[in-house]
Parts: sequence; C-alpha cells; structure tokens
Amino acid sequence: MSNFKVTPWEVTGEVDYNKLIKQFGTEPLTEKLIEKIEKAAGKEHHMLRRKIWFSHRELDVLLKEHEQGKGFALYTGRGPSGNTHIGHLVPWIFTKYLQDAFDADLYFQITDDEKFLYQPKLGLAETNKLAYDNALELIALGFDPKKTHIIIDTNCAKTLYRIAIEIAKKVTASTARSVFGFTNETNIGLYFWPAMQAAPCFLPSVLSGKNIRTLIPAAIDQDPYWRIARDVAPKLGYKKTAAIHCVFLPALTGPAGKMSSSTGAESTIFTTDDDKTVRKKIMKYAFSGGRDTVEEHRKYGGNPDIDVSYQWLTFFEEDDAKLKKIYDDYRSGQLLSGELKQILVDKLNSFLKEHQHKKELAKNDIDRFLFKDKQ
Ligand code: TYM
Repeated sequence: MSNFKVTPWEVTGEVDYNKLIKQFGTEPLTEKLIEKIEKAAGKEHHMLRRKIWFSHRELDVLLKEHEQGKGFALYTGRGPSGNTHIGHLVPWIFTKYLQDAFDADLYFQITDDEKFLYQPKLGLAETNKLAYDNALELIALGFDPKKTHIIIDTNCAKTLYRIAIEIAKKVTASTARSVFGFTNETNIGLYFWPAMQAAPCFLPSVLSGKNIRTLIPAAIDQDPYWRIARDVAPKLGYKKTAAIHCVFLPALTGPAGKMSSSTGAESTIFTTDDDKTVRKKIMKYAFSGGRDTVEEHRKYGGNPDIDVSYQWLTFFEEDDAKLKKIYDDYRSGQLLSGELKQILVDKLNSFLKEHQHKKELAKNDIDRFLFKDKQ
C-alpha cells in the first residue's frame, strides 16, 4: 500500500496519481481530451503525449468555449523561497507552449508574501529580492513581453488586495483548515493567504471588465487553491477557473517524492548549477535502475521505469524515437547506467547553458514584464 501526502507545501512518499485524482476530485486527462488540446493548439507537445499532464478541471469546458471564439487567460506562478530548480520549469515550459499556441495573456504570480509568511527564517526583503531573480528565470524561457504580466505580490498589493478580500469574505476558517490543514498554531497571515493565490484567477476579468476564464497549468500540489477559487467564483459572478495538472519531476535521489529545494542540494539540479556540478550530482546521486555489476547489467538489462535519469529524459528529451532507443537499449543491457547518465548530463548542460545566457539578457528586459499597480 502506498503512503503519500501532497499539499501545496510538501510532497512525501510515492505519489499514486490515480488515487490523487480521486482524493482531490479532479478529472483524468483522457486521450480524447489530449487530442482536442493538440487540435485546438495546432501542434503537439511531448509532455501531453507522455502523460506528464495527467489531470484537469473543466478543461473540456474551456476548449468548447475556445471553439466558440471565446478567449481565455493563463495563470501560473512561483513561490520565491530560493533558487529555481528544473522541476519548477516543467509547468512553465508547457505554459509557454500554451501561450504560443493560443496567443493567450499569461498572469504569473510571484508570492513573496506567501514565502515570508510560511518560511520562519525568510524576511520580506529577502523574498522580494528572490522574486526578481525568479522572474528572470521565467523570462529566460522566451515568453512574449506583450502578453506576459509578472505580478510580484507585495508590489501589486493594491490590485490584488481588492480581489482577495472579496474572496476571503466567502471562505470560512473551517474551510481553510480542512483544505490546507491549518491549525490553531498557524499564523493568521496564512489563513488569509489562499485568497491572495486565488485572486489572479479573476484578475483578467477585473482588468478587462469582461468575464474571462483562466486556465492554470501547474503541478497538482497547487490544486487545493483552485478548489477555493472555483467555489467562490459563481458567488462573485466569475467563471470557474480551469486547471491542468502535471506530475512531479522526481528528486534525483528518487524514485519517490518530488524535486524540492528543501530535500537537499544532492537531490536537486538548480538552474544556476554549472556543468561540472550537474555532472557530479547526476553521476553521484541519480537513482539508478541498473544492475550491481556491468556483467549482470549486460546479461539482464536495466529497469528504465525506476531509473531517475530515464524519467527525467521523458520530461526534457522531446524526440520520441531517441527516447525509445534509450529505453530499449537500457532494458536490453546494451546501454549502461553511466552512459544513460551521461546522456542526461549532456541534455541538461546544453539546455542550462542557453538558459543561463538568456537569464542574463532578461535583466535588461524585466521591466516590460512587470505588472504595475494602477495609481
Ligand atoms: P512553487 O514555487 O512551490 O512552485 C512553482 C511551480 O512549480 C511546480 N513544481 C513542480 N513541478 C514539477 N515537478 C516538481 N518537482 C515541482 N516542484 C514544484 C509547482 O506546482 C508550481 O506550479 N504557491 C505557489 C506559487 C503560486 C502559483 C500560482 C503556482 C502562486 N500562484 C499559480 C502555480 C499556479 C508556490 O509556492 O509554487
């Protein structure tokens, strides 16, 4: 029996995603719906084909509205508690595909307030500084400056607060306790916090004066917020927000749990890691599905299904044929663990080299992306 826990702040154990769909009350992302997304988008995405995106809320409704010519806005975000790791990039890479395909505005919330409230040791000046760094990570992925609005919470309080108090008035403490596990010891800032994360769901409607549905691409850990947002939406006259959920990029030391900055540097590749560090971490720590000796591996083959290097390639290697060959060769024993790891090292290092360069360039461009409070 698997024992796991998924909350917006913590993921432990080996996640059973089918069980989670039932637990959270979301819908599985069916083949039929994947086809519909790709048809409407006009192009495929390897993360859809590989079921990295596996669950949703009312995506079918959103696509139907899109067929009728109704637009939608994208909403996703980041909690600035440290450097960005490559797990964070997973939903953002897919969000970029959605923005390009649907020409949609993206609202990206960076929650310096949340991380200040949640992390005992982080001050507000620190989380606000990290927010700028995290914004550069997003910009480096190539989002459209005309259509991307980065909201650093404490800088945009005037806009967000007005929506958040409307939401907060409709959510009781007992709902917040049961959805988020808050207790008597939880600070009151965190009790209010879900209203702040729900606020951007309705921001496109507030700004435009039209009723615009939002679609949130994020890992499934953030879903509890959308339950709150969707509950209050009709009470405030807004459309319920739609969501699409991805699985977690596993920690390097896997096979269970998500990659997270809090599980230690050896289980995480940060976007700031240099090529030597990436190589060292993967060679030393990546959980292997290989055999104990080369002889045994050649004879019996490895197990790519539990091998973290292979799992990571399913997220980042877009070429299906290449991936299949790696799978088959590893299974047959022709490809050794060290060789598989080297493929991953090369893939990540070439991606990170370009990403780090683009992040540098983004420093001159950030102002075009920042959402500004109306005076
Ligand atoms: P944060 O900073 O914990 O995570 C940012 C985004 O990365 C996703 N994520 C992962 N995805 C795949 N594999 C992983 N190992 C992994 N770890 C994290 C998260 O699901 C998230 O999408 N409270 C939020 C900030 C936020 C937000 C939002 C996120 C505000 N509004 C709207 C998503 C959508 C937070 O702390 O995210």
